[in-house]
Amino acid sequence: MSFDAAKEAVGRRAADLVTDGMAVGLGTGSTVAHTIAALGERGLDITCVATSIATEHLANEAGLAFVAPDEVDGLDIAIDGADEVDPDLNLIKGGGGALMREKIVAALAKRFVVVVDESKIVAQLGDFGTPVELLPFAPRTAARAIEGLGALDVTLREQLSDDGNLLADARFGAIADPVTLSAALDAVPGIVGHGIFLGEMVERVLVDGPSGPRTITHQGER
Ligand code: 5RP
Repeated sequence: MSFDAAKEAVGRRAADLVTDGMAVGLGTGSTVAHTIAALGERGLDITCVATSIATEHLANEAGLAFVAPDEVDGLDIAIDGADEVDPDLNLIKGGGGALMREKIVAALAKRFVVVVDESKIVAQLGDFGTPVELLPFAPRTAARAIEGLGALDVTLREQLSDDGNLLADARFGAIADPVTLSAALDAVPGIVGHGIFLGEMVERVLVDGPSGPRTITHQGER
């Protein structure tokens, strides 16, 4: 099974978790795009909140109604992709630059479900890099602070976030303690957000790949 086929299979599988009447957070990326398409095909009566302008376009194409996050009190479920998943279900997200909106929407949801192909499952976070969203006011100051936390380098992207902030990737190498690094990044003035999503946010990770579908939770795997 190719990675593209795995993304499609797992993305579509996640749509089965959604039922009529739910408020649903829609993530960003090529995997969750299949979830959005499947939700549209099912013709459900749901209210969605999108995590990016790209996802708003996909939701529109799929015929899904979406509202701003402030228009809901909470979400029944949010479904999103990830760039890396470790054994404690800590994630690296933000490859597509939507990390801050994604974190806000995930935090609104009672259930945060992650959809990935097998290549995203890692023993330790870090190889992908850590996306960060920076206030344009003082990005070099923020980058120096990130290097002070152990980043080997911080590379600015050309792409801006949907909220007009700068995006960059910090290379920490293997991240031994995502909880501590996440808190340290949260404390740097000028960092709007970062792509470490702690496992405590995640209810389950749906995976697909050459060895077939599986679901990983904090209780184990099936
Ligand atoms: C976007 C993200 C994506 O969820 C992540 O990059 C995975 O994308 P894909 O499903 O295309 O591999 O965090 O900001």
